[in-house]
Parts: sequence; structure tokens; C-alpha cells
Amino acid sequence: MGWIEFGRDDATSARIATLAEQIAHHSNLYYNLATPEISDVEFDALWDELKSLDSEHPQLRRVGAPIPPGSVKVTHRFPMRSLDKATGDDEVAHFVAETTAHGRRFVAQPKLDGSALSLEYRRGRLVRASTRGSGERGEDVTANALRIPNIPDRLSWEGDCHVRGEVVMHLDVFREKYADIAPNPRNLAAGSLRQKNIDSGKGDASDLAFHAYDVRFVPNDEKHPDSPDALQFEGDSESIAWLRKVGITPAEEVVIEGSDDDDTTQALLAETKRWTQERDTAVWELDGVVFKLDNLAKRELLGQTAHHPRWALAWKFPPEEATTVLLGIDWQTGRTGAVTPVARVAPVVVSGVTVENTTLHNVGEVERLGVSIGDKVRVVRRGDVIPKIIETLGPAQVSDIEGRFHADGEPFTGDLPAKTPPQVPIDCPECNTNLELDGAFLRCSNLSCPARLARSILYWCRALEMDGIGEKLVDQLCEVKLVKTIPDIYRLTSEQIQSLERMAEKSATNVMNQLDATREMSLDTFLSALGLPGIGPELATAFAGEICTMDALIALSEEDLGRLVAIEGVGETVAYSLMAGVTDRSEMLEDFNRILTISEVAKTEAPSGPLVGLSFCITGTLNRPRKEIALQIKAAGGKVVSTVSGKLDFLVAGENAGSKLEKATRLGVNVLNEVEWEAMLQP
Ligand code: IVH
Repeated sequence: MGWIEFGRDDATSARIATLAEQIAHHSNLYYNLATPEISDVEFDALWDELKSLDSEHPQLRRVGAPIPPGSVKVTHRFPMRSLDKATGDDEVAHFVAETTAHGRRFVAQPKLDGSALSLEYRRGRLVRASTRGSGERGEDVTANALRIPNIPDRLSWEGDCHVRGEVVMHLDVFREKYADIAPNPRNLAAGSLRQKNIDSGKGDASDLAFHAYDVRFVPNDEKHPDSPDALQFEGDSESIAWLRKVGITPAEEVVIEGSDDDDTTQALLAETKRWTQERDTAVWELDGVVFKLDNLAKRELLGQTAHHPRWALAWKFPPEEATTVLLGIDWQTGRTGAVTPVARVAPVVVSGVTVENTTLHNVGEVERLGVSIGDKVRVVRRGDVIPKIIETLGPAQVSDIEGRFHADGEPFTGDLPAKTPPQVPIDCPECNTNLELDGAFLRCSNLSCPARLARSILYWCRALEMDGIGEKLVDQLCEVKLVKTIPDIYRLTSEQIQSLERMAEKSATNVMNQLDATREMSLDTFLSALGLPGIGPELATAFAGEICTMDALIALSEEDLGRLVAIEGVGETVAYSLMAGVTDRSEMLEDFNRILTISEVAKTEAPSGPLVGLSFCITGTLNRPRKEIALQIKAAGGKVVSTVSGKLDFLVAGENAGSKLEKATRLGVNVLNEVEWEAMLQP
């Protein structure tokens, strides 16, 4: 038998290499493909041996085949929702009043201003980390998350769970290493997490920190068979303590419990004041305080809207303001044909972000502000939204634009413009079509206006997650007239794409593959991606559940109005928007119908129950939270509205019902007290 002579170190290195290779192979089978070939005991033996030989081996920090961050989409097993926001004391009091039937014990944590991350642990090992994305689907960023020092690749509990938290960059690290290259730590945290290469210059993920705010356990019937059962805690405070115990860093929390509503509200407000004081000395940026009902079972009872849970509230610091000078107004035609004024202002820092452009929304807003070019203006930035101009302060002085810097640190050298009233365009800045005034909006009615076309195509591609098709490519396609309508993109050839600037064979193939992957879709996806004016994704889904097929959509006529307005949340205005959108695009829809396979959507079940066809409005102080009553009405097939009109069937009125009760009485609407209302539910 021939032996290869190894020195002891060589033999060890060879063994290490073999072990790493085997672990990579079996992890991929186990975690990514779910087809393991060896038992867990055997796998753990390989793992432990490698660890004993080289405890720092990178394979021990890697699971399955490494995926380039951002290239794979992840559907969240538990959607990552937003939070309802509040800024005023009265809103906090309202939140307490609405949840109070479920307890007065709340967990408070700082609202960290970073980038949300979900960590998926299987059998206690980190198998995947993903960004929040749309809340339903995010991006796989495992490789970068593993570089964050306080994210453990193994928990001290060997089960299946999803840990959610915020990735932040500590301010001292930001100031020392990055203040010159990024506007704020939040942008940097998001950029470092999503970057494809560590050396992309966006910041090193090992400079980030993770602070958890939530953990969800995979139900027993879905968990890995060898994992321990899902854990059940009574309160969130216990799950936070548990996170700490298994090796996760939670965001610091306090538990607040009041004796009555007032007392509870005061205690929560005291916490907002404490953080307002500590904000300046905190090691990371925060933009408010999050309050969450502690009792987990009661959270379930309160449930959530499509946007946020009803058991939590984010109190935000008051907005920051600054003044600057209006240098000019650009008019831009958007996807829906609305022509929006964009203000160019002298660079100004608001809440840590340098602002040079800001929307003025519509022509009505320009008139309302009475603003002229050369005026000094007040800018406000609320939370993470785009800053806006809220007030005109009259003609600016030269000193108002001195000592300013662009976001990249270059000094601003512009001159103070002479005071000139804004010029409102008569024709579309892109296609010269005569503009129409539609309420406060100016509109271009030309459906093939190049600006509208490019933005509609981008909207289509974003909605269908074709991220290989970006703004530059779409602009070129429209410019050289390779594409004149959205369906045209499905007629492109790889050669045509390669003929464009900065497109090589590989990127063209990527675009072609992405287009091929979207040649089949269901009607709801189609209608969402089409982005008809006034029809967002939620309405698109609601309409698809009634219209069901592409042929029926194309054939839509006035006769369908009745069944459209019968859809929950749809009024006549939206129904007409849909019909106008469809009629204006009839040729394009026919074209889509030929070129794509658009599958039928099952009809949304008509609501059933004793209250079908009846509408309710709820007002005043009742024994139970309004939300609970509203849910009961919906469950019984009724519709809940927020305003009183002659068409309303019932007003449920509690103590101290004010103007709504008056109006209902005046209009002859039936008024029910809580006892009468409960009687109505009885069969
Ligand atoms: S709780 C179901 N707690 O705020 C909601 N969120 O506006 C669970 N955030 O996307 C979220 N600090 O990324 C919670 N202590 C905290 C937070 C926090 C920051 C972020 C979070 C979320 C966003 C919602």
C-alpha cells in the first residue's frame, strides 16, 4: 500500500480541508435542498471535529452554499410588519384606551434607526438572514449578517425560530470611519448589509451591531423533526429574557404597568421624555420609542391590519426643521401622467440627511405656499419620509446660502437667484402635450408620453421583482424606441439589449431570463404591476377577486359598476378609475393577453353572516375596544365605515358620542347602544 507522507501539520491541514468540504456539501443538502444524506449525529461529529482542529475555520460560520447577498429573494415565514406611528400625547392616550381591555402592561424599547433584519435559526444554527424588503419578501443577506460580531451562528437552544431586530452602526464607529462617505449611520447599515462584495466601499458589516426586538417560533408541525418543541411565553418580557439567555442581544427594554388608563398613559409619556433626554448621548441613533402590549395571547386577540399590529405603537420624536433657499422648480411627468413640481433647494441638513431636492406635490401646493424662486423656506422632515417645504419666509439673503455643503462634502457654490414667481408649464415637459388641470394636479393625458412610459415600465419591473431592469436601461429602451408600450419589453431580443450602452451578454441574458420568468402570472399580480392611476396593490387584489379573468377585465363596462362598488373598501371613484384605466388601455390589454399567460383568480367569497349588506359606524366610549366590535361586525359579514352619511345603516354609539350621533339623528340613521348592538348579533 502506498502512503503519501504528510508531516503532522500537513495531515492536519488535509483533514481540515476534507472536513470543511464535507460540511459544505452536507450543509447544502440539509439546509438548502432539504435532502440530507447523513444523520444529524454524523453531521455534528464532522462539525465538532473541525471545530477541535480549527475553531476559527470560516466553514463553521457558513451554512450551505454561500449566496451572494441580494441575489435571492426570501419569503418571510412570519411577515415583517410596520408599526402604527404617533407623535402627540393624545395619540398615546388613544392607543392605551384602545388596548386597555387587554391589559395595561407594556414593553417599551427605543425605536432604533437602522435596517431591519430577520435571522432564521434551524436546530439552533443560523441558516438564513434576510432584509425586511416588502415585509412579505426580503433579500438573502446571510453572508453579510454572519460578519456582524454580535449575531451568533449558533444559539444555546437547538430549536427553530426567527429572530427579528434592527441592524445599526454605533455612532462612534460612524464618526471615526464613515462620516465622510455616508450621510448617516442608517444608510450605511442598510448599504453594508445588502452589498454584494465586502470591498464594495459601502462599509464593513463587521462594524455593525444587531439589537433584537422580536422572536417567533416555528410551529411544531413545521419545525425540523429533531428540534425541540416551539416555546410559548406568556409575555414579551419573558421572550426578551430568553433571547438574552440563548446568546442574542435584545434592544434594551423596560416594562411599564399602570393602575388605570390615565396612569398608564402618563407612564408611557414619561418614557418618551426619558428617551428625548437620552437621545443625544445614546450610542446609536433612535427615532422614537416603541410600546408593545406585553401579554402575547392578548396580542393575538387584537390582531393586525395589513400594515401594522394593533398591539404596538411607535411614538416618534417631533420632526426636525431647518431653513434653506428655493433655487428653482423642475416639473416632472410621472407614471400616472401627473406633472409634479420638484423644488431644488440650497443643500440643508435635516435629521442628519442632506436635502437638495424635495417634492412640492402638485401645482396646488405651489399656489398654497405662495412661494417664489429666491425665497427663504422652512423644510421639515418627519420620521423617515422625504422632507417637505412647509412655509415661505420671504426673500432670502446671501447669508442664507453661505457655508453649505453637498451630501458628498463638496462646498456649495451656487448663487442666490433673483426673486422670480414660479412658471407653471402649459405643455408636458416631456412630450409637449397640452396639460390638463385635474383638481390640484396638472396632468399629461398622452399615454405614450415617454416619461410616463419609462416610469410605467419601471413600476411594472419593480412590482414583478425584475431588478436586472433598472432606470438606465429603461430610459435607453424608450429613447431608442425599442419599446413603445409595456408589452413591447416581452418582444425584445438578447441582441437588441446587448446593443445598448453598458449591456454585455451576461447582463442581457439576465434580463431575458427575468422577462421569461414573468410571462405567466395571475390576474391580481398583473393588475398590481400595471399600476393604473389610483389603483394600488391592495385594490388591485380586491378587484381581481371580483373580475377573476383577463377576458372579463378587458370586457369591463358600466354594467359592472354595481358589483365593483359592492367590494369592501371600493367606492364609486375608485371603480370609475379602474374602468377609465382599462378603457384607455384597451389595445395594450389585448396585446398583453396575447403575449402573456394571465391566469384566473378564484372569486373572493361573498361575505356571509347575519349582517351582510349592512353598514356600521362606531362612536363614543364603549365597554369593549372599538376595534374588537369592528372585527365582530366584519366577521358577521357587515361593513364598517368611519363616517356618517344618509346611506349608513347603523350607528353604534357609546357614552359621550358627539358630532357623529348628532349627524346620524339628523339624517335619520338607526342608532344602537351597546346592549342593542349585542342583541343584534344573537341568532
Ligand atoms: S417592533 C410587528 N421594536 O421599526 C412590529 N420595531 O416602523 C415589530 N424598529 O420595521 C416591530 N426599533 O425595523 C420594533 N424596538 C423596536 C424597533 C423596531 C426599530 C423598526 C423595525 C420596523 C420598524 C417599524
